Amino acid sequence: MKFETPAGTNPIDNLRYVGQPLDRVDGPLKTTGSATYAYEWHENVPGLAYGFIVAAPIAKGTITAIRIESARNAPGVLAVITGLDVEALGKADRNAATLLAVDKIEHYHQAIAVVIAETFEQAREAAYSVKVDYQAAPGHYSLAAEKESVDTAMQDEPDKNIGDFDQAYAEASVTIDTVYTTPDQSHMAMEPHASMAVWEDDRLTLWTSNQMIDWCRTDLAETLNMPIEKIRIVSPYIGGGFGGKLFLRSDALLAALGARATSRPVKVMLPRPVIPNNTTHRPATVQHIRIGADSSGLITALSHDSWSGNLPGGTPETAVQQSELLYTGANRHTGLRLTQLDLPEGNAMRAPGEAPGLMALEIAIDEMAEKTGMDPIAFRIRNDTQVDPAHPERFFSRRQLVECLNIGAERFGWHKRTPQPAQVREGRWLLGMGMATGFRNNMVATSGARVHLDETGHVTVETDMTDIGTGSYTILAQTAAEMMGVSLAQVTVRLGDSDFPVSAGSGGQWGANTSTAGVYAACVKLRADVADRLGFEGDNVVFSDGQVIQGDRRAALAAAAAGGPLTAEDSIEFGDLDQRFQQSTFAGHFVEVAVDSFTGEVRVRRMLAVCAAGRILNPKTARSQVIGAMTMGLGAALMEELAVDEKQGFFVNHDMAGYEVSVHADIPEQEVIFLDDDDPVSSPMKAKGVGELGLCGVSAAIVNAIYNATGVRVRDYPVTLDKLLEGLPELH
Ligand code: MOS
Repeated sequence: MKFETPAGTNPIDNLRYVGQPLDRVDGPLKTTGSATYAYEWHENVPGLAYGFIVAAPIAKGTITAIRIESARNAPGVLAVITGLDVEALGKADRNAATLLAVDKIEHYHQAIAVVIAETFEQAREAAYSVKVDYQAAPGHYSLAAEKESVDTAMQDEPDKNIGDFDQAYAEASVTIDTVYTTPDQSHMAMEPHASMAVWEDDRLTLWTSNQMIDWCRTDLAETLNMPIEKIRIVSPYIGGGFGGKLFLRSDALLAALGARATSRPVKVMLPRPVIPNNTTHRPATVQHIRIGADSSGLITALSHDSWSGNLPGGTPETAVQQSELLYTGANRHTGLRLTQLDLPEGNAMRAPGEAPGLMALEIAIDEMAEKTGMDPIAFRIRNDTQVDPAHPERFFSRRQLVECLNIGAERFGWHKRTPQPAQVREGRWLLGMGMATGFRNNMVATSGARVHLDETGHVTVETDMTDIGTGSYTILAQTAAEMMGVSLAQVTVRLGDSDFPVSAGSGGQWGANTSTAGVYAACVKLRADVADRLGFEGDNVVFSDGQVIQGDRRAALAAAAAGGPLTAEDSIEFGDLDQRFQQSTFAGHFVEVAVDSFTGEVRVRRMLAVCAAGRILNPKTARSQVIGAMTMGLGAALMEELAVDEKQGFFVNHDMAGYEVSVHADIPEQEVIFLDDDDPVSSPMKAKGVGELGLCGVSAAIVNAIYNATGVRVRDYPVTLDKLLEGLPELH
C-alpha cells in the first residue's frame, strides 16, 4: 500500500484497542523470565560450544605476531580463529571498521581472534593466554585538540546558509556567542551483545540481539561473502538497544565463524568491559552557537556549528539538525564538521543528532532569553515558526510546541519560579526550575507484515519488526485487533525473524508508527480477502467483535477461514508527504532541582514532559518510553561520560562500575502528558515516534534549572560537582 495523501477516516480511528493504555501482551513472559533473550537459546541445542573474544589492547597499529599455541592446547579448546584463519571477510557500509582485524588495528578492543571451547570458562581462560605482538602507531584521540584539522573528505554535508548571518548578527541588539561540549556516551543496554550461530550445511541461523533484522542479515551476508537467502536471523526479544544494536557487531560474526570452524553451535557474548570500546558509542561534540535578536526578542540570526570525530568511514554526529527547524530567524548558518579520530566507532545512540544538539541549543536559548530579559517560555514562543525556516512554503504537518510549553508551564507551576538565579533556599539547598524544548524528527520507511486468519478466528501477525523493550508486540496486536475486529486475546504477534516480511525495524523512533502502518496495510488486504470469501461487496464492511457486518447482514469472521486459513501480506510505502511537509515531534520539558550549596550535589526533584507526537498508540507503553528517556536525559546531564585516554586512545571507564548512569535513587517524580495530536500526514495510524522525543531537551532543562538554582552556568557536560563547585557562589 502506498501512502501518498493524508489519511482519511479509517478503522483505526475507532480506538477500541489502539490509543488505549493496555498492558503489554508480552508482560507475563518478561516478568516470569520466560522470554528468550539472545544468550538463552541453547536449551535444546545439543553440542553447544562457547566463544570468547580476544580484543586488541591498542588503538592503532599492526599485529606483528599472534601466538595461539597455548590457547589451542588449553583444556576444552575446539578452535582458535584469527583474521588470518578465515578467507577475506567483506565489510558492510554500515560498519566503519572491520569486525575481525587481520593485521591492521583500527580501534581499541577491536576483535582480533575468537577462542571456541566446550565451556565458557575454558574459552575465556584460553583467550587470555593468546599472546599478540603489536607495532603501535600514533593516533588521534582528542576532539578538542584535533577539531580544527577537519578532514573535509569526511564531511558529509556542506554548510547551510540562509540570508546573511554575519550581517544580521553584527546588527543584532542582543547576542550570545558560546561553546558547549558533550562527551562520548555509551548505550549501556542491560542485555549485552550476544549471538548463537548454527550451521546446517551452508545455511546459517543466527539467534542474536539486534534492532534491525534486515540490516543484520544483509551485512552478515556481505561480511561472510555468502548469499543472503542462506542466512536466517532470529531476535524476538532485545534487552535494550538505544542504537547500540542497530548494526551487525562482532558477537554475531565471531559466533558464525566459530560455529563454522567447529561444526558446532556456538554462542558468543561480548563481556561488559569489552562493549564500550568494541561496539559503537555516541560521539562527543563541540558546539559553537551564536544567536542574535532584535530588541523585541525576535531571533534575527542563528548559527550552529558542531564538531565531532570518527573513524574513516564514520559519520558526524548531526547535532545541528534541530537548529534548522526549531526557531525562526531569517539569517541562518549551520555546519557539521567531522574530524578523523582513532577512537572506537561513533554511531547512532538514542536520538542521534537532536539529543546532543539540544543539550547545547536549549542552554543557548535559555541564555538568550535571560539576555533579552524575557521569560524562557515567552522567548521560545516569540520565536516559534510554523514553517521550515529554510523553505517557508513548507509547513510542519503538526506543530504544537507552543501548546506543550503553555500546558507544561501551567501544570508544573512555572509562575512560582523566581527569574533571578540563586534566590530560593531550603536550608543548605538552593532550588531552581528550568525548562527546555524537546524536538525530534519523524522519519518514515517501508515496513511489511503478514497476517493470518485461522478457522477459529485467531489472527497471527508476522513481521521482522523488533521489540527492544518499547512495546512493539503490544501496539502491533492492538493494530491487528482494531483492524480485524477481534479481541487482543485473539491476536498473536510474532516478531524478530528474517523469515517474516521486512519491516522498518526499531530505530530513530520510527518503529511504532511505521511497523503498525505495515500491519494496517496487511490487514486492509486481509479484510478484502475476508469480505470476498464471505460474499460481501463494497467498502462499508465493518469488522467488530469477531463479526463481519454490512447493513443487516453479518457473518462470523472465523467463517471466512472455514475453507482454509487466509493469509495476506503487504507493506506500507511512503510517498513524498515527508518532503511536502516537515514531520516532527515536540515537547516541553520542565525540571525542578535542588543543589547543595556546600558540595554542589544536584538532586532532581520533579520532571514533567508534555509531548505532542502524533496519535499515541498506547499511552502506557508510550509513557514508559518517555520516563525512561527522561531518566537517560538526567544521566546525560549529570553523570554519563566515556572518559577518553587521549594518549592510548580508548574509553577508560568501560564497564558499569565506571560509566555512571542514573539509578532509582536519582529519579524523582516524573509526569508525562500527551497532547491530542493525530497527524494524518504521518501514516494511516496518524502516529509518530515518541521514545526519542522523551530524551531530547531533558538535559538542557536540568542544566537550566541548575542555573536558576545557583547562578552557575555550566556549558560542559556532564555537570559534575567539580564544575559546579568552581562557580558556586559563596552562598552557604
Ligand atoms: Mo535509535 S539511536 O535509532 O536506536
